[in-house]
Amino acid sequence: MRTVDLIVKKKDGFELSTEEIHFLIDGYVKNIVTDYQMSAFLMAICINGTTIGEQVALTKEILESGEQVDLSEIDGLCVDKHSTGGVGDKTTLVVGPILAALGLNLAKMSGRGLGHTGGTLDKLESIPGFKISISSKDFINQVKKIGLAVVGQTLNITPADKKLYALRDVTGTVNSVGLIASSIMSKKLASGAHSILLDVKVGEGAFMKTLEEAKVLAKAMVEIGKSYGRDVVAMLTNMEEPLGEAVGNSIEVIEAIDTLKGRGPKNFTKLCEEICAEMLIVTNQVTNKEEALIKIKEVINNKQALNKFKEMIAFQGGDVRVIDDYSIFPQAKNIIKVYANNPGYIKKIDAYLVGVAASKLGAGRNKKEDNIDPAVGIKVIAKVGDKINKDDLLAIIYANDLGIDEVKNDVLNAFTITKEKQNHLEMILGIVN
Ligand code: URA
Repeated sequence: MRTVDLIVKKKDGFELSTEEIHFLIDGYVKNIVTDYQMSAFLMAICINGTTIGEQVALTKEILESGEQVDLSEIDGLCVDKHSTGGVGDKTTLVVGPILAALGLNLAKMSGRGLGHTGGTLDKLESIPGFKISISSKDFINQVKKIGLAVVGQTLNITPADKKLYALRDVTGTVNSVGLIASSIMSKKLASGAHSILLDVKVGEGAFMKTLEEAKVLAKAMVEIGKSYGRDVVAMLTNMEEPLGEAVGNSIEVIEAIDTLKGRGPKNFTKLCEEICAEMLIVTNQVTNKEEALIKIKEVINNKQALNKFKEMIAFQGGDVRVIDDYSIFPQAKNIIKVYANNPGYIKKIDAYLVGVAASKLGAGRNKKEDNIDPAVGIKVIAKVGDKINKDDLLAIIYANDLGIDEVKNDVLNAFTITKEKQNHLEMILGIVN
């Protein structure tokens, strides 16, 4: 086999076999296939697409390039969730404790934020003392004891993805369903869970801008998961406005704690409940959604879910007093309120702009090596569909020294206010299973 022949085959629109994909990906990891050859191959994929057979083969190669987490020591069902990335997405911090309180195990490896989207690890690290780097042994032991752990990578999983993703990032080849699906699913499969829920974000603040695109990606990921005998369900969820109110790090953790106390923002609470309900259905813990929602509300009302979060903080070295005393979190020096210039209805809140604005304050990174400021961020108080008067509160900026004036303008510009009545946004746009 010759690399150049396989590049030409894909460029001419033909399907590659499993052996041919093995030759390319394995060769790339071993530095036999060069960066420029792989770039040409990736571009041919972006232009001509991939069949499900090719997607499964790509996933297999990426998965088998590294270590895989063995969860077999853990009694009971292990579940995992993955979000394709959004603004204000602190869902794992609420869904994990609820599912653990209901007897499922969530052994999750999360990521850091990059660009306009936040990362669960950065959020958790805003809890004083919280450790995201723990050994594989401690990770498994923690899940055995409390059913919940959210950590950084404990093993060298999917090194092929790291190499491919870095190349895709700089060659304009990120945005291809086959490449995204195999990249995400190889990592999820390597993480070892029996049941996987994929939260595929749709809209301005997300990777997939339209429902059609998101459906195609969701179907591809579900098919790949099924080919490995895992239970996979994908929810298509709205990212046309930031999720909940808080966009930042400590302020998102506070919002997650509030939600576990039953007083979170409405749209965020609903999303968390729906994700948990789907997870209970896919793992056969309940027979229908109504039953699932009753169980979920019960563990919120009786504080069992909140206590699971507290236990996780304690196990991972964090200061558990944050649960009741939010002043223990790092605090921003400046709190700036942003008011409406005009009366009307909120038509749009550009989640991407809000995400970038929070990054400018220091809540996110531009480069992997950047440090983040855990205290800063933006609370988006008004939501799409709200009727507002002039001078009503739209948002609150929590800032230290960076970017205050620019961010104030960005936040105002993120809001589109119109005279015509607008509906509130639907959170759940579809389910693929
Ligand atoms: N997230 C991933 O992990 N991989 C992609 O290719 C895109 C989003």
